Amino acid sequence: MRTEPRAAQVFGFLFISILLRSTISFAHSIDTEFDQVFQLSERQDVLMAENPKYDSPLDVEKYAVAPSQLELEQVHIYVRHGERTPVGIRLTGPPANLPEHWMMCKTARRLQASVNGSGIDGILDEFQQARRIVERADGTHREGECMLGELTDLGRKLWQVSSRDLCRQVVPNVLKSSSTNCLIRIARLGLLPNILQNTETVYFRTTNVPRTTESLQQIIHGLYPTSKCYPQAIPPIFVRNGRDENLLGNAGSCKRLEILLVGFAQAAASAYNHTLEPLDKKLSKYIDGRPVRVDGKPRASGILDTIRAATAHNIKVPSEFEEKGVMDIIEKAVVAEWFSGYKTDEVRRLGMGRLLDDLATKMQQKVAQGDRDPLKIAVHSTHDTALAGLTSTLDVFDDK
Ligand SMILES: *[C@@H]1O[C@H](CO)[C@@H](O)[C@H](O)[C@H]1NC(C)=O
Ligand SMILES: *[C@@H]1O[C@H](CO)[C@@H](O)[C@H](O)[C@H]1NC(C)=O
Repeated sequence: MRTEPRAAQVFGFLFISILLRSTISFAHSIDTEFDQVFQLSERQDVLMAENPKYDSPLDVEKYAVAPSQLELEQVHIYVRHGERTPVGIRLTGPPANLPEHWMMCKTARRLQASVNGSGIDGILDEFQQARRIVERADGTHREGECMLGELTDLGRKLWQVSSRDLCRQVVPNVLKSSSTNCLIRIARLGLLPNILQNTETVYFRTTNVPRTTESLQQIIHGLYPTSKCYPQAIPPIFVRNGRDENLLGNAGSCKRLEILLVGFAQAAASAYNHTLEPLDKKLSKYIDGRPVRVDGKPRASGILDTIRAATAHNIKVPSEFEEKGVMDIIEKAVVAEWFSGYKTDEVRRLGMGRLLDDLATKMQQKVAQGDRDPLKIAVHSTHDTALAGLTSTLDVFDDK
């Protein structure tokens, strides 16, 4: 299964869909229709895209403010995990000299294994404490070294900030609030209770990957630290088996999707290989003299992954990789390789159909049941590939 997006931060980091209710009709009937479903993403807004009044559909500051008779009812959030290390070792030798070992995973090395106790009938599990350390091929180890593709200390921190940012974007732009403290804001607006009493108010799901799971834990900690949950209301984190996963285009459980995605990737290589050729004279010296190509070795996506991860962690990269012109060409090729398929209905349906169906089903249920449906916020922790897939499918992908 392709759970592994191959580039860091290619895209905006979250996609938000919200359900608003008209308070005017609400006054007449509890089970009223919901007037509007707004779909927002960090930099993209369906409404804005249709609104010629604004020049840039991607300018968050200029998002339309929701009409005042609308009330926030339910929020669905799809976030990319926090910053991580590259998923492969590239550009490590001279002259690029990027690190082979990333010593950026000093926090969260503790493991707890439940070793005794059934956890049922009120018998608490007994935990065994342990520390996890990455061992290198030569048998040596260093404290704080990251695995490939692991959420870094920075990635964890970013998430603490981001769950606040996330609200700053939803709340002021949609509900005319100026506060930057999203959690308090949402609580005051009455969407989320200050103390969680009912686990069904929230829904948290992640792909079965450590970095997305840990990112989600950070977000949950931002929204509902254990101190803000009743003991019986500690919310579960949902995770699916690979065959049932729909938080990304699941080529592993859908042969047809796999064939289509591979076909589009090959077509992108044919179409874009030559556009990358001019980069050889600048970049080949960093990749053992090899050409920069979509399907090269390393792949263009691998180069992008390593450079983006290094930049995100303030690691100096060779100056050629700081040239916007250079990175734009590589990004364009990689976006074509992975996502040009999402311009077609079939890839959209097979890749994102099930996830969007979940979204629609939950919103419809809210519309039908009104206050009898307790769900207020759903947070999905996923990968670049899913955000690009979702935004493409809704025709608001900005190709970045
Ligand atoms: C857990 O360990 C204790 C002794 O350390 C033992 O008395 C108890 O039966 C164990 N519980 C289970 C469920 O195995
Ligand atoms: C892209 O270029 C590389 C290197 O020149 C070549 O090996 C590969 O076959 C090309 N791919 C396609 C699909 O044309």
